[in-house]
Amino acid sequence: MPFRFLSLMSSALSSLIVERIRNTGPLTVAQFVDNALYHEELGYYARAGRRSGRDGDFFTSVDLGPMFGELLEAQFEEMWRVMSGGGAVGEPATDARFDLVEAAAGNGRLARDILDHAAVRAPRFYQAIRLHLVERSPLARAEQAETLGPHAQRLATGSAELPAGVRGVIYANELLDALAPHLVVMRDGGLREVYVDAGDDRLVTREGPPSSPRIEAYLAAVGARLEPGWFAEVNLAAADWIRTAGSCLDCGFLMIIDYGHEASRLYSSSHSTGTLTTYRRHASEHRDEGPGWLMEPGERDITSHVDLTGIALAGREAGLQLLGVIDQTYFLLGLGLAERLLENGSDAPLDVKRRLALKTLLLPGGMGSTHKVMVFAKALQCPTLRGLSLGGRVT
Ligand SMILES: C[S@@+](CC[C@H](N)C(=O)[O-])C[C@H]1O[C@@H](n2cnc3c(N)ncnc32)[C@H](O)[C@@H]1O
Repeated sequence: MPFRFLSLMSSALSSLIVERIRNTGPLTVAQFVDNALYHEELGYYARAGRRSGRDGDFFTSVDLGPMFGELLEAQFEEMWRVMSGGGAVGEPATDARFDLVEAAAGNGRLARDILDHAAVRAPRFYQAIRLHLVERSPLARAEQAETLGPHAQRLATGSAELPAGVRGVIYANELLDALAPHLVVMRDGGLREVYVDAGDDRLVTREGPPSSPRIEAYLAAVGARLEPGWFAEVNLAAADWIRTAGSCLDCGFLMIIDYGHEASRLYSSSHSTGTLTTYRRHASEHRDEGPGWLMEPGERDITSHVDLTGIALAGREAGLQLLGVIDQTYFLLGLGLAERLLENGSDAPLDVKRRLALKTLLLPGGMGSTHKVMVFAKALQCPTLRGLSLGGRVT
């Protein structure tokens, strides 16, 4: 490999990627991103147990403190009541097991916040919980038992794969945006796919025919009509993950929290340059020499918006019933976020940290409006859940 290449690319993973391209040809963007994020030794997520937070590259709702987990706990407890025959408010008839399956569990912080709250507020629910943490990063998985502390005894499985036969809830915060999408562009002659190739001194993008007939089939199924010049991501991995989750769920709920839009908006002029982007130290990057996501693979986060329409379709194909799609703000308000504010009392000012967390969770433009919550059910007749009680509000 030319020395110039290494000096410009400056990441250990780039030389492996270049070697692979020289041996087998250009990679789809999906293959490139999967390598950049999840290569077993050098991938962005493989090299650290935690990537978010003030010292990381981006924030998720989990970084804002325990309140997010505490509110989710209220939703999961209600799901447990519904499934145990106690109805939305009555005491459950049995203490049947409840599988609490977190996918993209990272080092277990969100699960710990949920269990901390359940242990104090809902001890019977707490006793029913069988916790499963599903996480692809081995380093993050290795930190889970320590993060869980006394709750580690509730941990039934910790793995990279979803468990089968789930009776309870499978949930994921910011998983689907971190799965690797194909990148396409519409040209006058028809749909083209974007590939990553090795140029003389850097990785470059090239266009070619779609790598799979599934890509055009996906766009047709969600009703996307791209105009010449528009770029778009097609996240087959996200749809496949939903189908797998649907088949792993015997009875209960699937809850997805992520940022994204309906296909009619995602595949429109407002997103015609695509949404694939990269974060490092809380800033999105684009450089003159090419898109930021192509630079220094393994050193930075790569993410794209979720197509809510494609996720709903995949859920239906997996035998799931879509109960609702709602802005995270309204979901959390339905679970008592406003009451929590009042609980503090007017003469007991919230501490600065909590106030900032609430602002980010609630205000327009913050995570509350960019993030959506989708809830599916399987093999259940169920009433309106509290989190969905404020209606299907999507902005
Ligand atoms: C953006 S982070 C979100 C982490 C955490 N849920 C949060 O909200 O802070 C995405 C996480 O998904 C994990 N991940 C990616 N693909 C996965 C898969 N198929 N199953 C489980 N975890 C996965 C990554 O390793 C990473 O830890």
